[in-house]
Amino acid sequence: MIEVRDKEVLLSTKSTSYLLSYSKANYLTCEYYGSRLSSFEEAKPLVSDLIINQGTELNIDDKNLNLSLNQMKLELSTLGRGDFFSPSLIIKNSRSMIFDFKVDKVEVVKPIIHNILPMPRDPSEELVICLADNDMHVVVELHYILYSESDIICRYIKVINQDSQPLHILKAMSMQLGLVNHNSTLVSYYGNWANELNVQQTKITHGRIVNESLTGSSSNRHNPFFIVKEDNCNAINGNCYGYNLIYSSNFEESVEMDSFSKIRVQVGINSTLFDKSLLQGESFVTPCALLSYSSNGYNKLSKEFQTFINNHIVKKKFNFESRPIAYNSWESCYYKYNKRKIKSLIRKASKLKMELFVLDDGWFANRNDDAHGLGDWEVNRRKLPGGLKSLANYAIKKKMKFGIWMEPEMVNENSRLYKNHPTWIIQDGIHTPIKGRNQYVLDLTKKEVQDFVFDSVSKVIESADISYVKWDYNRNISDMPNSGTFFYDYICGLYSVLNRIVDKYPYILFENCASGGNRFDLGMLSFFQQSWISDNTDSFKRGEIQKGARLGYPLSVMSNHVSGKTSNQLLRYTSLDSKFNVACFGILGYELNLCDLKPVDIKCIKKQILFYKKHRDVFQLGVSSFIGRDDNSYSIQAQHNGKIIAAKYYTHTIPNPKEYHLRLLDTEKNCDYSFYSRIQNRDFARFGSLINMVSPIHIKEDGALIHFISNRFTMDGEYIHGIISGKILENSGIALPMLWSGTGISNSMSIIHDFDSRLYVFEKC
Ligand code: DGJ
Repeated sequence: MIEVRDKEVLLSTKSTSYLLSYSKANYLTCEYYGSRLSSFEEAKPLVSDLIINQGTELNIDDKNLNLSLNQMKLELSTLGRGDFFSPSLIIKNSRSMIFDFKVDKVEVVKPIIHNILPMPRDPSEELVICLADNDMHVVVELHYILYSESDIICRYIKVINQDSQPLHILKAMSMQLGLVNHNSTLVSYYGNWANELNVQQTKITHGRIVNESLTGSSSNRHNPFFIVKEDNCNAINGNCYGYNLIYSSNFEESVEMDSFSKIRVQVGINSTLFDKSLLQGESFVTPCALLSYSSNGYNKLSKEFQTFINNHIVKKKFNFESRPIAYNSWESCYYKYNKRKIKSLIRKASKLKMELFVLDDGWFANRNDDAHGLGDWEVNRRKLPGGLKSLANYAIKKKMKFGIWMEPEMVNENSRLYKNHPTWIIQDGIHTPIKGRNQYVLDLTKKEVQDFVFDSVSKVIESADISYVKWDYNRNISDMPNSGTFFYDYICGLYSVLNRIVDKYPYILFENCASGGNRFDLGMLSFFQQSWISDNTDSFKRGEIQKGARLGYPLSVMSNHVSGKTSNQLLRYTSLDSKFNVACFGILGYELNLCDLKPVDIKCIKKQILFYKKHRDVFQLGVSSFIGRDDNSYSIQAQHNGKIIAAKYYTHTIPNPKEYHLRLLDTEKNCDYSFYSRIQNRDFARFGSLINMVSPIHIKEDGALIHFISNRFTMDGEYIHGIISGKILENSGIALPMLWSGTGISNSMSIIHDFDSRLYVFEKC
């Protein structure tokens, strides 16, 4: 709801309010952002009056008040008029670089849709506040968009040059927000390849903290989602504010605390290397920033973002559609395969009741390593006689869909494309362009390159019965030409290609990939329904990555695969059950070598797939929350339509562990829940020489006999089940089976290995 009255506007979402004011000399400020207010009046005690300027502050308006811009919670800030925070807008023309913007017009409009940058769909209301500097003939529109049933506010700005002099935009943040400091902490991500989305907490102290990317993508170093939480905030209690940006290139987000301990938060395009010039009558629209507030801790904030992404970012056709269980060829084959190998994998995957076969890298040109072939999107008929068509038909015959890997934005020097079009790569024309993973990036700011990418993807999609495309992007951008908007233009070029492709092939399921999570953001999710968030499929590390991702993103956009027991990334050994217990939270897939499976593994995977299919709605569409951490474990849950699935992930085993209880969050207090644990396999080989305590003959710990037995036979692990009321489940939780600790053994004990895990299902009765 948007209410406008004299010099004030109150934006109200489901449970938050945002109070804008321009009563102070027409400067636009946010006087309050927090729990929903019932009226303007209720906000009165929250607004602090500026009585006198402190110390060395400067007066902006002698007539009205002793008013200093630096003391105000400005929604837009510039240079040179007494505001000494880092400005949210830096612009200049040949006459001046000082701009003084005051409110000129306030309008509630029918939501406006722009078509270059992606925007959330299905908005309900929009407020536009026009700020003008009449001496400089520049107008800045501040847009605030609301969505029914959501606590997310979307913001962007539009800069319009009405002056005859060209205007240079050097920095244009999509949003700025002033906050009162309550011993606040910034929660943001850091990472790198195979190590994405680590959550870090930084105490906000005086000065400016910047969360940004300069790689040309949103990057695996940082991610545009972040939280500012107050000192009382934890997973379920306290105040916090979440932010994200719908943009896939260099972003800049800052949290600055000035010497008066006031905080300003900014979110927008990175200003490094940014210089956009506007002629008279031209305008520039920034990407959309999202913000939300929760008074119930960061789980509630995550829930808002997760729900919003499903309802307003992911395309309607796919947002609530169940996604197939994939088999992907990458980790089992890399580039080394032929038609016979792929067909035997299709057969095995189909027998295990997987639903989509994805042929990853290596199927085109002379692509037998990463130094050849990118750009030449024609099937390698020596490797795959019969082409994609015959493989797709074979998969379909075996009741699976068929999908393909592409990396359309890239080219290898060893390719026909590079030989024919060496000028299509990103380069400054002076330095020898540098390579990453032996490849160059095609310059998508050029129309002919956009057309080439569109045509090559179209041709591949049309060459066979393809229902899925994994779109990869495996290097960062370097050697950009001398243009103040190169990164912005590149991403707009990409968005334009993606728009054309998803419009033409609305039925294709696209998976966004960038060496894993090097471009995992809301811009890409506006086109591609799901994302490969990391190349790391080691279950323990992957669990941490997914835990980080869930803070700001829903399960429905993350695809996770069960790979071989020995992780290709870390060489850590974990059981297939542990790998499944992590990968199932999201869109499940497999990429271990199915031809090498032992009989017990086949049984184990069959059980996993049955279990996943039964609970797919919870795993893919559930709202996921962090429950809590214990000495050697942490637990999470996903909830959908009265069903909750919880996982307990152990890091390491400890002797004589304490009694564990599993408590859930957000249960329906007046309902009963029936519950049960997923039964997992016990591997005889992991009892070591202790097996001799029960064996009539001597069995060597690493001998052939134990391997023979453990390849063929397993024992079921512990099983618990029962009924519990929602209230007790939340307050006290269920007692988990006792953990085995060196002496005695029983079927109802839980034998936990390092990095082991368990799943529990709770259904409303
Ligand atoms: C990087 C991706 O993240 C992997 O899953 C795989 O598709 C390779 N690229 C293929 O080159």
